[in-house]
Amino acid sequence: MLRHFIHVLDFSKDELLRIMELTAMLKRADKDGACPRLLSGASLGMIFEEPSTRTRVSFEVAMTKLGGHALYLRPGEIHLGARESIADTARVVSRMVDVIEARTLKHQTVLDLAKYATVPVINGLTDFNHPTQVLCDVFSMTEHAPKGKKLEDLKLVFVGDATNVCVSLMFICARMGMSFTQAAPEKYQVSQAHRDLVREAAAESGASISFSDDPAAAVADADFIYTDLWWWIGQESEIPDRQAAFMPKFQVNAGLMAKAPPTARFMHCLPASRGVEATDEVMDGPQSIILDQSENRLHTEKALLVWFVYPRLKKPSDALLARHRGIAEDFLSDFM
Ligand code: CP
Repeated sequence: MLRHFIHVLDFSKDELLRIMELTAMLKRADKDGACPRLLSGASLGMIFEEPSTRTRVSFEVAMTKLGGHALYLRPGEIHLGARESIADTARVVSRMVDVIEARTLKHQTVLDLAKYATVPVINGLTDFNHPTQVLCDVFSMTEHAPKGKKLEDLKLVFVGDATNVCVSLMFICARMGMSFTQAAPEKYQVSQAHRDLVREAAAESGASISFSDDPAAAVADADFIYTDLWWWIGQESEIPDRQAAFMPKFQVNAGLMAKAPPTARFMHCLPASRGVEATDEVMDGPQSIILDQSENRLHTEKALLVWFVYPRLKKPSDALLARHRGIAEDFLSDFM
């Protein structure tokens, strides 16, 4: 059955752990300058309806390091949704590439791409979720966990708006059996509809999912303190209200970090509005792991690409390669 990476709750805890194991393996290989070329000759189509630094660079570099190649497909430069339906784009691109990564404005677009594609589709962020980011984040947490704590012991406190990253962190914590708290003014907390989506996963894994409007109390036993932008493209008219609701109580600054255990680490998916949701002092301070987190996007994308593409690739023998080369060369020799 063709599977896509659209939502972390589509995957079992065991599958996500295995992808993280593969991430660690491929990271070690990369650090030795020996990334295995497991996707030699394979192609990745990357559709971006919104700008990106980390997702675009990590997927493209990951594919190159694995021996494959990536194409950047930007609406306006391809026909997606304008002169060609999403279904036809998905069907056609699938005939030429081995995997599609898509960052789409609407979650429905990535669902439609996956419905009609005949190769795996990886969600690179929608208005609903950001699964590649949070898989990377949990992997980063395992690397920076306090000594002696296992994954299920970790407490993540997200301070700020219920962004797609915040909601996705709630999803993955629920699946993995971790502890997740969002600290935000009530109006900006995760909606009941989204909370309902994790009830079953949390019950099964034993995860603790909670919400608070008291960031100082929430971070008191946090292992990781995470924040994200307070507003995004299209929310410009809400900036004064959002500033008033979040500042200064929900800013991650030295004062808030001092309320957390000294072992707590600071995380941000980036891009950040420095001096707004988090101060420079925290972002560049000794507790910050934001750059490790960003680098881990590369290693996570490598693991995801290998997980979804490697099993589907044909692995021709040297004899078969030589046979086809011989046939083509014999043909060409008649004209040269
Ligand atoms: N965190 C993240 O997805 O970054 P980009 O928008 O730069 O891809």
